[in-house]
Amino acid sequence: MKHPIQIAPSILAADILKIEREIKSIENGGADLIHVDIMDGHFVPNLTFGPVFVKKLRFISNIPLDVHLMISNPEKYVENFISAGADYLSFHIETDTNHRKLLASIKKKGVKAGLALNPNTNIEKVFDYLDLLDFVLIMTVFPGFGGQKYISSCTNKISRLFQYDKNHNVEIEVDGGINFTTAKIAKNAGANILVSGSFIFENSNYKKVIKGLKDV
Ligand code: DX5
Ligand code: ZN
Repeated sequence: MKHPIQIAPSILAADILKIEREIKSIENGGADLIHVDIMDGHFVPNLTFGPVFVKKLRFISNIPLDVHLMISNPEKYVENFISAGADYLSFHIETDTNHRKLLASIKKKGVKAGLALNPNTNIEKVFDYLDLLDFVLIMTVFPGFGGQKYISSCTNKISRLFQYDKNHNVEIEVDGGINFTTAKIAKNAGANILVSGSFIFENSNYKKVIKGLKDV
């Protein structure tokens, strides 16, 4: 299966006080998904948004919401984020939870289910779950903050997953430090969903950057 290239701006880097305008600008700029980073101050050393915010986003946006849970005990909150309107929902493989059960419960609701991996987690760990996965989110920075530099050693994980999943049933998402240079590297390795926060929102022409990321 060949998955289309999708660009997912991470609204962590957007101007939150002008969120409606920001969402319209990225939608008009050709964004495919809106990446929403959920941090709990426990799994990662930072705090961001909750389900109420995701629900508000659902009302003002016309494209799918890609919700990335960087939280401990994801099983406690998955339902809430699904009801709030998540279309893609990932939680971390490093969390202490029943991964199979949780993935199955996400899929049952018609939501795309994903596992996210920290940079120092082996890609082989997801191989056991491929039958239940719609996508794998490969972190290319340590989660918690936007604006960090892409960790080059993670590229190999993208290629290994792309080769192992021979029929390419699973979509591969990369997250962290994506710009034109690293987007090209990640795409060449087999990634098809590119998350980009600061690189898009720090530029005044979102359309140009989104198109550039898609075309590199
Ligand atoms: C990091 C988040 C990323 C982040 C990406 O913890 O998961 O989604 O927002 O931001 P940039 O593109 O600035 O690295
Ligand atoms: Zn993210």
